[in-house]
Amino acid sequence: MKVLVFGATGDQGQAQLRRLVAAGHTPVAVARDPAKIAIAGVVSVVADYRDPDSLVRALDGIDALFITMPSTSFQAAEPLIRAVEAIGMAAQRQGLRMTVFNSSMIIKEGKRGFAAHDARWEMRERLRDSGTPIVSIQPVIYLDNLLRAWARKHILEEGRLFYPHHPELDVCWICQDDVSDLMIAALDRPHLSGRAYNVGGAEAIRGPDLARRLGAVLGRSLRFDPRPIPDFCAAMAGVFKDVTTLDHDRLTSELRRIYEWYNFGEEKPFYVDMAPVLADLPVTLTGLEDWAARQDWRP
Ligand SMILES: NC(=O)c1ccc[n+]([C@@H]2O[C@H](COP(=O)([O-])OP(=O)(O)OC[C@H]3O[C@@H](n4cnc5c(N)ncnc54)[C@H](OP(=O)(O)O)[C@@H]3O)[C@@H](O)[C@H]2O)c1
Repeated sequence: MKVLVFGATGDQGQAQLRRLVAAGHTPVAVARDPAKIAIAGVVSVVADYRDPDSLVRALDGIDALFITMPSTSFQAAEPLIRAVEAIGMAAQRQGLRMTVFNSSMIIKEGKRGFAAHDARWEMRERLRDSGTPIVSIQPVIYLDNLLRAWARKHILEEGRLFYPHHPELDVCWICQDDVSDLMIAALDRPHLSGRAYNVGGAEAIRGPDLARRLGAVLGRSLRFDPRPIPDFCAAMAGVFKDVTTLDHDRLTSELRRIYEWYNFGEEKPFYVDMAPVLADLPVTLTGLEDWAARQDWRP
């Protein structure tokens, strides 16, 4: 299929492009700056969420869509929700075969009172309301986060996995490649239209076990150090200070509230039973050690 990928220049989008090519599909990357797409054989199209006509034009000649939206933790959600709605309506008008929405986070059936969660919920519902065939893939947390500077430097320079999870928290970490494969599996399963799947890795891993097992792959001792949630949220607000359009205090307080839910919510947001998901979307999930061994951990 010819698959238009929104969010193609982001980390997740890059993984989706690579996996679509590997699966024999033809991805078309949405990029405001086409120079950012440096994957052999991948063509791009310019479109901007602030320009609804450009979104409609980008769908010309396309069979299916992958949608991964930018963060709503660091910028206003409403313009992005409107963009998703415009894309859904255009997909419906053009009779696209499938839209796969990657919410980038877990979504529960109803709103939960967390701005980031509720914005993703709203996007998914607008896509469903458009009447276009849509499957929603909702990943809990990415292993790839460990490669980001804010986690990686503590691993490599200090020998500690400094992460805002309490030590007994069961976390089903999943890698971006596996999420891409689940999205690809949804492409040619129209009978799943309307379905939404929270997805995680093959097993739940607690922080101390993650540190020990990752350390074994890296050939070094690694200890788990639960990062206080307020400290982590302040650091994240700093990382994104140049891109955020939200008030600093509102942003950090929202981050704190949702990380507390991740850690202590009775519905265990970071735990997923993958058996029913894999029955519908048969992919082979990557184990922690296999994933870690494939990454570039050079300082
Ligand atoms: N669950 C987890 O563990 C986890 C981990 C990491 C990230 N996330 C979430 O995943 C989401 C995406 O993250 P990411 O790292 O894949 O992507 P990202 O780095 O946030 O990139 C955002 C993407 O959106 C595009 N974009 C932004 N504004 C646009 C506009 N006005 N019009 C068209 N395209 C626009 C960017 O394209 P341009 O190149 O044109 O700017 C880029 O492709 C975020 O919500 C993030 O919070 C979740």
